[in-house]
Amino acid sequence: ISKLAVLTSGGDAPGMNPCIRAVVRTAIYNGLNVVGVKQGYKGLIENDMYDMNKRSVSNILNLGGTILKTARCLEFRTDEGMETAYQNLKAQGIDALVVIGGDGTFTGALRFSKKYPDIQIIGVPGTIDNDLYGSTYTLGFDTATNTVIEAIDKIRDTADAHDRLFFIEVMGRDSGAIALRAGISCGAEAILLPEVETAIDDLIASIKTGHLNKKSSSIVIVAEGDKHGGVYDIAKMVEKEVEHYDIKVTILGHLQRGGSPSSFDRILGSRLGFAAVNALIAGETQHMVGLRANEIVLTSLEEALTSHEFKLEDDLMQMAHILSI
Ligand code: F6P
Repeated sequence: ISKLAVLTSGGDAPGMNPCIRAVVRTAIYNGLNVVGVKQGYKGLIENDMYDMNKRSVSNILNLGGTILKTARCLEFRTDEGMETAYQNLKAQGIDALVVIGGDGTFTGALRFSKKYPDIQIIGVPGTIDNDLYGSTYTLGFDTATNTVIEAIDKIRDTADAHDRLFFIEVMGRDSGAIALRAGISCGAEAILLPEVETAIDDLIASIKTGHLNKKSSSIVIVAEGDKHGGVYDIAKMVEKEVEHYDIKVTILGHLQRGGSPSSFDRILGSRLGFAAVNALIAGETQHMVGLRANEIVLTSLEEALTSHEFKLEDDLMQMAHILSI
């Protein structure tokens, strides 16, 4: 390969910038030209790309978001959109792509790569949801979880002062990874996740037991993908049965996606970006670089999309329950 392009696509995640930096500098170190694509696949279709050099990525390690910007691009799902993107890449002499994003990004990358195999593609798992097979952690998950913890600690202060019961919704799409980690870290009285069935009656019983055990406040973390119909509905169902607590609902929302990446995400982004370029140089394509047992591993995009890494560890759920009595 002689010229590679890098893009970020789908929801942004803290750690994307350290990863872009690593891609650009590793490529330049190896004598390759690098192009930055703006707004993910949209920039490929609209030919919105620019040459990057060592200094294009100065002082971005600490920045949340992505300097390349990102988008969810419907046009890239069409044959015409893909063909335009391909022609734009060819016209610029680009023969390799690093795509940083989540499952939507990888689905697009895989389809594109099957259609146009002369463009090598390596994916980097960048999503706060931690839901890709082939990497124990995805970029942004650690920072997002820490952001959630900081917010819930603050809510605990006021919940405790008023003897209140809070239902707090956290992000993760279909994954309960953020909810579980935040729940353990904040001592949540209950954690509701898409991966585990929890009967509302059991939830009510445990909140009542908590009250009998003289708990002054209770926090229930609800993953957005939970199957009970949303945090407000759950709060209403519980409200009917629980008199002793004043109930409040908080949806943390997009604040979970922002902020300066943690040390973990800066290092992970650097390692994965470095590994992605080295994989391309070694001739790899249609793979994702990931981290497992602290080793860089390659997983085919196909497998990354169809298998599931995050089996909710039963022992952690059980532990969270026991520790919150
Ligand atoms: O995939 C990351 C994520 O933040 C999910 O947790 C959430 O469901 C979704 O993106 C929100 O998407 P948007 O920013 O487009 O509203």
